[in-house]
Amino acid sequence: MSTLFALTLILLSIYAILTKAEFSEQSLELQSAHRADKVSHLHFYFHDVVSGKDPTAIVVAGKRNAFGMTTIIDDPLTEGPEPESRAVGRAQGVYTQSTKEGAALHMAMTFVFKEGKYNGSSISILGNNQYLEAVRELPVVGGTGAFRFARGYALAKTKKFVVRTGDAVVEYNVFVMHH
Ligand SMILES: *[C@@H]1O[C@H](CO)[C@@H](O)[C@H](O)[C@H]1NC(C)=O
Repeated sequence: MSTLFALTLILLSIYAILTKAEFSEQSLELQSAHRADKVSHLHFYFHDVVSGKDPTAIVVAGKRNAFGMTTIIDDPLTEGPEPESRAVGRAQGVYTQSTKEGAALHMAMTFVFKEGKYNGSSISILGNNQYLEAVRELPVVGGTGAFRFARGYALAKTKKFVVRTGDAVVEYNVFVMHH
């Protein structure tokens, strides 16, 4: 009887140790996963083409340049400011005129990279873009692939704006902390 009791105690202790080890291992993994260990600086140009036969930005709701105007984008990202410059990815998502006075867009978009070591990785941006300011800061809220656990910020600067068509080229400098 007492042998059985002792055996049960030993088995229970082994079980407890094993279970505990498993839990502590998991939390260690999480701790190391949360440690961002690199800062990358990305530089590229964003082409918002609203005019012509093949626009990459289309208004899906609201009146142009009025509160509520909502645009869906699949804008090319290139290495240099010219549209025929080497393509590095696409900016996919949505922006909405989100102020009743002045000029501000609520932007929710993902930079999907298609070139070099970042091919297949992405960075998500969410924030307020007061697009008449010379330089706007937008938060990086996450990422995938090479940019897992990403956080950081993007600086957007309008390089070219064609009043007649509404087409714009915006220079982006993204500073991102990631694995
Ligand atoms: C990017 O990755 C995709 C999928 O793996 C591949 O098909 C494509 O050729 C790659 N592009 C470049 C430019 O390396």
